[in-house]
Amino acid sequence: MALALITGANRGLGLEFTRQYLHGGWRVIGCCRDPGAAHELASAGAEVMKLDVTQAADVSAASKRLAGTSIDLLVCNAGVSGARGPALSPVTQADFDQVMHTNVLGPMWISAALADHVRPGGKIAYLSSRMGSIGAMNNAGSTLYRASKAALNAVVKAISLELASRGVTAIALHPGWVKTDMGGAGADIDAATSVAGMRAVIEGAESRVSGHFFDYTGKEIPW
Ligand SMILES: NC(=O)c1ccc[n+]([C@@H]2O[C@H](COP(=O)([O-])OP(=O)(O)OC[C@H]3O[C@@H](n4cnc5c(N)ncnc54)[C@H](OP(=O)(O)O)[C@@H]3O)[C@@H](O)[C@H]2O)c1
Repeated sequence: MALALITGANRGLGLEFTRQYLHGGWRVIGCCRDPGAAHELASAGAEVMKLDVTQAADVSAASKRLAGTSIDLLVCNAGVSGARGPALSPVTQADFDQVMHTNVLGPMWISAALADHVRPGGKIAYLSSRMGSIGAMNNAGSTLYRASKAALNAVVKAISLELASRGVTAIALHPGWVKTDMGGAGADIDAATSVAGMRAVIEGAESRVSGHFFDYTGKEIPW
């Protein structure tokens, strides 16, 4: 049985990834900050694991707990948007640290700790955002979030190059503008549509596209 490990799996896109992979017959380790409150994740049938991606002790404990476990797919999904405002609005140190630690440091730590558990031929999918694309940027605002996802994109590219010799494919994904707590009720698409699309993109991602950036329809996005 194929195994997926998903961060931020207790709500939003992470919970939808969990439900769809379980429905597809996968085993899923659903990670979250507060397992005691992750009722939907547990009732979906996931194995619930505590993992705050900004806590080094949690990351280290997860790696130890997974010793000897072979992961087919790692989904680095956990993320925060931070304060939204004009490009030149002041950013507090606290906001900067929270967004950068969650969206950049977290995936870097998770990758370093868990990449060895991903089997040759396995994949790592990173939830980025089109807002992190410099090449596609045509409006301002949410500078901190954009900067965090642009940084994540650089991390994905670098990791993909390092993982090539191990046969592990790493891609960045834009889920679309999705109706979740982060995307809001006025977003374009629902989580089921977004995740079904991203699953197809992940499924079709061969080693030659490692280090590339796709939206949920499979369209490539410029860095
Ligand atoms: N929704 C969109 O339109 C959209 C668009 C582009 C990209 N994305 C990206 O897609 C991913 C998922 O977004 P979403 O819409 O599902 O967001 P969401 O509904 O706000 O859910 C975010 C998830 O991340 C978890 N999380 C936050 N900080 C964490 C930490 N330090 N450690 C572990 N988990 C943490 C949350 O857990 P708690 O419940 O504990 O807070 C929650 O499970 C994010 O990376 C986001 O940037 C979303």
